[in-house]
Amino acid sequence: MLKHKGSQVIKTERLILRPFRLDDAYKMHHNWAKDPEVTRYLTWQAHKNINETARILGAWLAAYTADNYYHWAIEHKGEPIGGISLADISDRDGNAKIGYCLGRAYWNKGFMSEALEAVLDFLFSRVSFKKLSAFHDIENPASGRVLEKAGMKQEGILRQEKLRSSGEFADLRLLAILQDEWLDKKKQKR
Ligand SMILES: CC(C)(COP(=O)(O)OP(=O)(O)OC[C@H]1O[C@@H](n2cnc3c(N)ncnc32)[C@H](O)[C@@H]1OP(=O)(O)O)[C@@H](O)C(=O)NCCC(=O)NCCS
Repeated sequence: MLKHKGSQVIKTERLILRPFRLDDAYKMHHNWAKDPEVTRYLTWQAHKNINETARILGAWLAAYTADNYYHWAIEHKGEPIGGISLADISDRDGNAKIGYCLGRAYWNKGFMSEALEAVLDFLFSRVSFKKLSAFHDIENPASGRVLEKAGMKQEGILRQEKLRSSGEFADLRLLAILQDEWLDKKKQKR
């Protein structure tokens, strides 16, 4: 049984994970949402202008009234640099899918690994999810590496599963980690 808590603030060594705010629109647009390099392997297209970013942000903000809406802004040194969220939550099965994106200027500094680790811990330890999964485009190995570093294991490859924003079909790799595996890993670290 899941004990939903909503997108509570989580602090890590370098980051604050917190709900998005309306005043994030400008930084969100400039740090990642307008960049086609960021959306290259994603299903959504880079935003054309700040109004588009603000409209999408508005829809996210409205969803925070639900305690089973998990969507954090990743804040570093006072500014939002990306986001991490859950989709396809099954209360019955205690599982969900994780998705994320990060501004290009912040890649390869370990930020998404730090954010993912904190989110997995919150969702397994506090909300009691049984299994968390994520897909990544097979041509985006950096994302696969982030998932592997968190202890997620490959479950399979889904051929031509998603239409990329660029118009080509992508093979997706599915990785997952179980609550027991996460809690064991945490125990071993102590
Ligand atoms: C994928 C993404 C989230 C990675 O975030 P990040 O903060 O740069 O990730 P980290 O720094 O924590 O880790 C990246 C890892 O990938 C590795 N990596 C980077 N480029 C790589 C490549 N071309 N091939 C293989 N590994 C690569 C890095 O070396 C690092 O691994 P290491 O710590 O073992 O050296 C970020 O690039 C991003 O948001 N991209 C755009 C949106 C996106 O692709 N979202 C994911 C959709 S599935």
